[in-house]
Amino acid sequence: MQLPIKIETSGVQSLQNQIFESIRQQILNGQLKSGMLMPSSRVLSEQLGVSRNTVVLAFDRLIAEDYLYSRKTVGTFVNASLPENSLMLRDNGRCYNETREERQPIRHPILFKGRAPTVVNPNRCKLDIDFWVGRPDPHSFPTNIWRRLTIRNLTSGNPNLTEYRDPAGIFGLRKAIADHLGPARGINVSPEQVIVVNGSQEALNLVARLLIEKGTQVVTECPCYQGAAYVLESYGAKLIPIRVDKNGLDVSELPQTRVSLAYVTPSHQYPMGVTLPLERRVRLLDWAWEVGAYIVEDDYDSDFRHHGSPLTAVAGQDRHGCVIYMGTFSKSIGAGLRLGYLVVPSELVNPAQTVKTLMDNGHSWLDQAVLADFISSGSYAQHLRRIRHTYLNRRDCLVNSLHKYFGDVQLSGLDGGMHVVWHLPTYLPSAEEVQNIAQETGVGVYAMAAAAAHDFGHKEYSERNLVLGYSSVSEKHIHDGISRLASALEKTSRGD
Ligand SMILES: Cc1ncc(COP(=O)(O)O)c(C=O)c1O
Repeated sequence: MQLPIKIETSGVQSLQNQIFESIRQQILNGQLKSGMLMPSSRVLSEQLGVSRNTVVLAFDRLIAEDYLYSRKTVGTFVNASLPENSLMLRDNGRCYNETREERQPIRHPILFKGRAPTVVNPNRCKLDIDFWVGRPDPHSFPTNIWRRLTIRNLTSGNPNLTEYRDPAGIFGLRKAIADHLGPARGINVSPEQVIVVNGSQEALNLVARLLIEKGTQVVTECPCYQGAAYVLESYGAKLIPIRVDKNGLDVSELPQTRVSLAYVTPSHQYPMGVTLPLERRVRLLDWAWEVGAYIVEDDYDSDFRHHGSPLTAVAGQDRHGCVIYMGTFSKSIGAGLRLGYLVVPSELVNPAQTVKTLMDNGHSWLDQAVLADFISSGSYAQHLRRIRHTYLNRRDCLVNSLHKYFGDVQLSGLDGGMHVVWHLPTYLPSAEEVQNIAQETGVGVYAMAAAAAHDFGHKEYSERNLVLGYSSVSEKHIHDGISRLASALEKTSRGD
């Protein structure tokens, strides 16, 4: 590390003083943070073109005055507690410890007014057993293969690691995704139509940038995924929520006015878990064609189908080129990868690539190369087969445990995915109360709002539905969690 120190050889101050004063100022104004490792006296003397002894003497003074401290054989560090005792950071003569209200008038107003879903469970550390939604089993991550493919690509990667690559994604990955989508989802696309993104959230931002301005009418399911509703609304969309019934989106309620797009989760509706039947899919496609809307199909967890073969994606049935398809590896491999993709109709290929370039110049090459090899070598298909089996057993265990402790339970979303929705019986308190009671006993179960679902104020969805993710919970923990929940609810009903 080089420190920004200016030395004046012809100045009146000694060199040692100049170094001392410059480092002291950098510590006081927060440029050098507490705990930071300082460059060695040798490195600094070479940088400044002064003798090493001059730097050593300046360091000795900073240590003596408690700005720095040294650890034998490790190095010299910035002290946490400074002699001045507080960082009275000065900015244009004003202090940072002034109140927020005092500072606001001199700042430009923050124009962004959006909201975001909670992606990290804030109560995670209080829970022994957590039915948080949409998390792959942490033990399922294919670490060994990933390590091997990473090392291989790292070794042969240059100049891919030092240069920009196609912002829409590396061809190998786009091809691997296109090849996978044919048999897996019935979608016949060319690699050019695939845009690699930083998860579905970026895909939604990209689509919104392409198609939404203030007042643009957008159909969403009600209830729907907060991550989608909030991002669309942040671009100025006017959301038109359409009710979800026991068969998914009620297509008979679709508006016959000009709508730009409809955001839907037909394979496993989020959050209710129902699968949109074929007849409704056809009506949705016809409607989109008639009103000139794009359909944004979010196929977030369709890799897990527990009964029969998966229905072809709506994008696979599209004959008019009106479906924008979104896929993510957050559910099938892990959300930490931040990898997903968009499949766009041909007229959107160029504009989508332009937006992707403006957003971030493309995703990390190494991650893409590893994933491309993982898919094209057949390891991804193998990985999916393995975890499908695990998740099916966990779903069955959850259903059996609920039956065992609560009798004849009413569930939806059983046919696929990684969560089910439990319609609470009338003798139990509201979903939010159940969530709180469970949390007290160290078990995480979730009402809609906490499970990133948006009900548009239609409380009939949120008051009595509990969302239970089972994919990251072992069978033993599933059983114990439901048993603990049952005892906690019983105690509460007895007033203990
Ligand atoms: C409906 C839905 N879509 C998409 C995602 C995944 O988002 P990402 O790919 O940004 O991780 C989630 C995650 O919870 C989701 O529930």
